[in-house]
Amino acid sequence: MACKLTDRFHVSPYTLHNMLVLGIESSCDDTSVALVDCSDRGHVIIAEKMASQIDIHTKYGGVVPEIAGRMHAEKIVPLIEEVMNEGNKEIKKQGNSETVDKLIHPDVIAVTAGPGLITGLIVGVEAARTLSYAWNIPLIAVNHIEGHIHSVEISNNKFQISSFQSGNANKIQNPKSKNDSSAPYSLLPTPLIDFPALCLVVSGGHTELISMKDHGDYKILGSTKDDAAGECFDKVAKLLGLPYPGGPQISRLAMSGRTDAINFPRPMLKEKNFDFSFAGLKTAALYWLRDNAQTDSSTYHLPPTGLADFCASFEQAIVDVLVGKALRAAEEIKPKTIILAGGVAANKKLRETLGAHIQYRNSDEQPFAPIIYLLPTTSYAMDNGAMIAVAGYYHAIKKEFTDWDKITVDPNWKIEKL
Ligand code: KG4
Ligand code: ZN
Repeated sequence: MACKLTDRFHVSPYTLHNMLVLGIESSCDDTSVALVDCSDRGHVIIAEKMASQIDIHTKYGGVVPEIAGRMHAEKIVPLIEEVMNEGNKEIKKQGNSETVDKLIHPDVIAVTAGPGLITGLIVGVEAARTLSYAWNIPLIAVNHIEGHIHSVEISNNKFQISSFQSGNANKIQNPKSKNDSSAPYSLLPTPLIDFPALCLVVSGGHTELISMKDHGDYKILGSTKDDAAGECFDKVAKLLGLPYPGGPQISRLAMSGRTDAINFPRPMLKEKNFDFSFAGLKTAALYWLRDNAQTDSSTYHLPPTGLADFCASFEQAIVDVLVGKALRAAEEIKPKTIILAGGVAANKKLRETLGAHIQYRNSDEQPFAPIIYLLPTTSYAMDNGAMIAVAGYYHAIKKEFTDWDKITVDPNWKIEKL
């Protein structure tokens, strides 16, 4: 039986114009569910819950797919229940009499269907399929990378809702959004993407430069030929005996080190294409450790200053490649917006270096329109259900639904093939 596609998303009893989207993410090691009120004025998180598996996988030095699948299966239903309960309470606090006695369902369910680990994707998609059928609510299959790109449109607005409750909210208008005084809460100035956009998506599984002409319209300019940048951080951290995920650990240690202490290679930086390769950098780091560090079995030990210098030099090499390639792609496609997203977008050095280059370019005398630089708050750089909800919203307004009995997972889903 096919899901009946309804035009429900403009008739939520909660507000007149918004769409309530339940976002479900389970493609790697975080089970994350969020109820987001999405609109063309910005997106407000009503409730969200996340179960991280990091403590379990850290024992193995990386994500174990079978364990990940089992943990997602254990957590997904309780998380959805908690989010719906909390979301209902939050919505009812708004005092809309129509909603007081009713259980509010979302207007749309958005779920990550790929790329990612099949063991996790299946859990999220099965949960979403079941709810879509049971609630008779349209379903949207969201590409994980597309979700990361839309993480830049999230600002954690929960505070704004509660401050509205106490009656002291200032209405802050999004400069790029419609001036709508009917919104039931004040919106933070949520950034909305201006097109064309250039997206640098960097995570544990992906390193991609993507040209985005509109929501849903993507072209991959280049991607990694081997390891992703986050994977390279994680593998080198493992050599140093640092816990998983290694990116934040290396980044923390790098803060007190010298970036020019070790001259690591900048793979493919000089090549004219927009592809990346980080396996060689990982090997260069391994060889350097073999020659310069103490070792017991597979872990290498350096004195504190040496460790900080190693981390700073290694981090700088990754940042130089990512930023160098992104800037060259920007010269070519002349974007109005540059987006940095994915787990590695939490990296301070990367955020600041790309930002400094864009600022420099914007302050140039040349007759260019300034480029807008959008990046997620660090907590939304990681995998989360809210980004999936926001990406799903842009498909929902175009009615790009998937029937509950047709949705499938694709662990290698390319963003170009939406
Ligand atoms: O997007 P994400 O949460 O999961 C995937 O889709 O892969 O990204 C996780 C990746 C891990 O490789 C982690 O080490 C990296 O993001 N990461 C960082 C930082 N925070 C997370 N890498 C470098 N610096 C950071 N501060
Ligand atoms: Zn991710």
